[in-house]
Amino acid sequence: MSTDDTTTTDASTESKCGASEAKSASKASTETESKCGASTTETETESKCGGSSSSSSSSGCGASSSSEEEEVGATVDDFESEPGRLIAVGLGPGKPEGMTSRAKGALADAEHIVGYTTYIDLVPDEITDDAEDIYSTPMCGEVSRTEEAIDRALAGNDVAIVGSGDPNVYALAGLALEILESKGGTASAVDFEVVPGVPAAQSCGARLGAPLVNDTVSVSLSDHLTPMEEIESRLHAIAPEGFTISIYNPWSRKRRENFQRCCEILLEHRDPDTPVGIVHGAARDDEETLITDLGTLPELGEEDIIDMTTTIVVGNEDTYVWDDRMVTPRGYETKYDY
Ligand SMILES: C[S@@+](CC[C@H](N)C(=O)[O-])C[C@H]1O[C@@H](n2cnc3c(N)ncnc32)[C@H](O)[C@@H]1O
Repeated sequence: MSTDDTTTTDASTESKCGASEAKSASKASTETESKCGASTTETETESKCGGSSSSSSSSGCGASSSSEEEEVGATVDDFESEPGRLIAVGLGPGKPEGMTSRAKGALADAEHIVGYTTYIDLVPDEITDDAEDIYSTPMCGEVSRTEEAIDRALAGNDVAIVGSGDPNVYALAGLALEILESKGGTASAVDFEVVPGVPAAQSCGARLGAPLVNDTVSVSLSDHLTPMEEIESRLHAIAPEGFTISIYNPWSRKRRENFQRCCEILLEHRDPDTPVGIVHGAARDDEETLITDLGTLPELGEEDIIDMTTTIVVGNEDTYVWDDRMVTPRGYETKYDY
């Protein structure tokens, strides 16, 4: 799935997929053209495939007050073909060696691969070269991109929609099922399947040593879909408990204050000496890792290591640092001598 902040990256994707004469006019900021499955409605959104009756979302993400909700368009009844397959594939953190062989196999079998441009770039070239069609759009537009994938599947194609990490972790597996349901379809009709990938928390945990060995919760600081007051209330609920905390979407230019607020709340409940691991770009070329403590974390918000491809792991009260590794004891020491 995409991360949550609006960019104006250019894309020049043309897409052809399925049945009758859907047509969509791309947004000026993208050159995406998509033809796939159902009605003949023109839309002004990027990448509308299936013929929404109306949509004028510029991106559907970020904090822009002018963004309008993306609307789901064609229903299953608009498609005449036997549905194909729809697979949500998790790519893992970055390079192809971090992908599961099942994910590679599922992508190799897919006729169409759909995703945010950055994620499509993570798919090995030999797979994209062999695919019948690649449909990539810039960041955001998650709803229209997911609908595009669904409409292509409803039009009879075998489609993979890709995202980093795992499709069940702040990603599009749920959205795909929700849109499919809203179109009057069923998961079994399109043979929907989720192919898991290694989530960022686990990839980053591996870089840091063994910080996630006991109970862990994840929190996303993106307020694109969850209001910040709700995120704050969740942080207040989990911070006093004995969990290790994985923080996704920790920082972006548009919501740098969310990061500072998160640090303040954690410091209300946890010792400033609590070990914190920061991993930027796990398994990517710009990977960077830092182990620090909670008291130092707020001053790192403006450093390059914390951005939209960073995951932060905040230890629990038992987590310690040994030889540059974070260690969260599982509890064996309470039962065994070693
Ligand atoms: C929208 S979430 C997607 C999570 C993804 N589905 C997963 O399972 O990891 C995007 C966030 O995941 C984290 N992330 C994704 N890839 C990462 C990487 N290679 N290294 C560190 N964090 C990463 C960052 O916190 C980023 O802001």
